[in-house]
Amino acid sequence: MPLRRVTLHQLKIFMSLARHLNMTRAAEELHMTAPALSIQIKQLAGTVGAPLHEQIGKRLYLTETGQLVYAAAQDVFHRIEQLSADLAAGQALERGSLRLSIITTAQYFAPHFLGAFCKLHSGIEATLEVANRDQLIERLKQNLDDLYIMGQAPDHMSVVAQPFMENPLVLLAPADHPLAAQRDIAPERLAGEPFIMREPGSGTRLAAERFFEKYGVRLRIRMTLGSNEAVKQAVAGGLGLAVLSGHTLTLDAASGAFAVLDVRGFPLRRQWYVIYPSTKQISPVARAFLDYITREGASRSHGPGE
Ligand code: PGA
Repeated sequence: MPLRRVTLHQLKIFMSLARHLNMTRAAEELHMTAPALSIQIKQLAGTVGAPLHEQIGKRLYLTETGQLVYAAAQDVFHRIEQLSADLAAGQALERGSLRLSIITTAQYFAPHFLGAFCKLHSGIEATLEVANRDQLIERLKQNLDDLYIMGQAPDHMSVVAQPFMENPLVLLAPADHPLAAQRDIAPERLAGEPFIMREPGSGTRLAAERFFEKYGVRLRIRMTLGSNEAVKQAVAGGLGLAVLSGHTLTLDAASGAFAVLDVRGFPLRRQWYVIYPSTKQISPVARAFLDYITREGASRSHGPGE
């Protein structure tokens, strides 16, 4: 389509002509000569395929095609002005969007960070997706979100992983468990205890498995459950012990249903990361959130047992 050859420069010249309906005045406005202006208008008319103006007596009129081109040119420049305002607002964090995807366990704190950030920048529209690790990695591969929060960067992907807060994993037991009153429990002592585990692929589960492998402790898995809340209910119900992120206890601190066991090596030290593909051009809003959560996370990095 030859219309693609229309340039913004030509449209700008034509808009000036359409406003003044006078070659000399339009040329003056644009600091060019009238013949140079006339050449540009002719080229534009050639590309469009029809005359854009006509001279009747001393007066210049736009043809019907000229009026259509004028309206379109106004739209184009209006859109460019809007774009420039949007970009400026984005830089100033007055407007924009933030798409955040987080791993299940991060739902205990990420909404607080996001809520506080949105309060500071009320023009920002945020969406939060909670997903398991596989789904999160798939979203990351498809470049669906601005930022991701998880406890471990995915293997075999080139990402930036910015640690922002500690993720202490604790060993949870029912409040009336015999080990609850003991101090400095050797990990080997837990062999034979029934365990409630998160689903395979969960970062929490992986860290727990690695820890007990290191001590040669074979875990007796009584039940595998796909959510932290379900695991907590099972522990509270006396079905076994569990390794969970200390963040999952924030709302239960006073419930008294659990005991955090004093096992040597616990809490396991992990980190939370904000992750994005290393080639991604992150938006000013995403950059501001990343800075915010790094600052806030550092000040909140005081998990249980510290
Ligand atoms: P998860 O989260 O156990 O819910 O997978 C923690 C992590 O990503 O390590």
